[in-house]
Amino acid sequence: MTNEVIPNLTAFDEAALGQAFATLERQARDAASALGSPEAVEAFRLHWLGRKQGLLNEVSSRWLKAAPPEAKKALGQRFNALKSAVEALLDAASGAGPSDAALAAEAIDITLPGSRRLTGAEHPITKTLNEIVSVFAALGYSVGVGPEVETDFYNFECMNFPPGHPARDTQDTLVVANQDRRPQRDRLLLRTHTSPVQMRTMEQQAPPVRIVIPGKVHRNDATDATHSPIFHQVEGLCVDTNITFSDLKGTLDHAMKALFGSSVKTRFFPSFFPFTEPSADVQISCIFCGGKGCRKCKHSGWIELLGCGMVDPAVFAFAKEKQPAYDPKKISGFAFGMGVERIAMMKYGISEIGQFYAGDMRFLGQFA
Ligand code: PHE
Repeated sequence: MTNEVIPNLTAFDEAALGQAFATLERQARDAASALGSPEAVEAFRLHWLGRKQGLLNEVSSRWLKAAPPEAKKALGQRFNALKSAVEALLDAASGAGPSDAALAAEAIDITLPGSRRLTGAEHPITKTLNEIVSVFAALGYSVGVGPEVETDFYNFECMNFPPGHPARDTQDTLVVANQDRRPQRDRLLLRTHTSPVQMRTMEQQAPPVRIVIPGKVHRNDATDATHSPIFHQVEGLCVDTNITFSDLKGTLDHAMKALFGSSVKTRFFPSFFPFTEPSADVQISCIFCGGKGCRKCKHSGWIELLGCGMVDPAVFAFAKEKQPAYDPKKISGFAFGMGVERIAMMKYGISEIGQFYAGDMRFLGQFA
């Protein structure tokens, strides 16, 4: 087959050589421009450069040998030029892969501006929650979590909610359906506060305990500007020997100053929680008016922010069943619980709780 393509050369003058090599090079270029697959490229290589039956091999063995001595130099130069040209065609064909048209379609205009990717940012609730936690972490508190689906026992009974306490009413608590055959204490509900994790922690760990517990809680409340049926709390528990109400006041006063600025004042108002005695509501001096009185603080100069108190001995009595060291005669402790949404709304001056959950990037982007 190769013999048909390579004619015998009879004249070896410049013109004859030029024409003969030009014909071959044109054939090579035509063949190379039609190469569409790696297989075709390989066939092209074998056809032209193959060691035994390649056309160039044929050219060198027949034309060079037949040439008279005075024409050998010119013929050799033209041969080398043709070989380089064929190799270049092969390189281009095998290196490029896709056709020129495909490359053009893929080409990038490097003068266009780049496309910006949105970087994620912490949700303001997560951000506030982490900030609260880190204030206590700096005081040596560890961080714990507990289940959102809780038993009546942990959410209420061991937290000293007496039977018939209004918080147990399904008006306030979202309960899991079809639990009627279970004993009351085993019935499942969505925890209404993070306080059950106080007990879960004490059951696992003898005193001393210093822990903060962030998490999601649920209440069957109607939504309004400041209430949502799902919200977040950070619980705190400190148990050791000789823990006093002064420790509670000092700790929370420090935490409020760390969160809202050192000029903030705190005051403790008598309150009631079944699991603390005595109990208090903590108020901070209004961060909007500095305590002078404004609409935000209802002209009182104070804003109520969290609940706290000394751990009730009845709570220690439940903990003692699993950890004897929780003997109220030997140890004491305090607990507190704060709403993360409420603190975030204060810090950032947000007046609608629903903004946190609406997923509106115009709102969320402001906290990035
Ligand atoms: N669990 C209480 C609530 O949700 C807050 C609280 C926690 C109060 C710990 C005192 C001690 O309102």
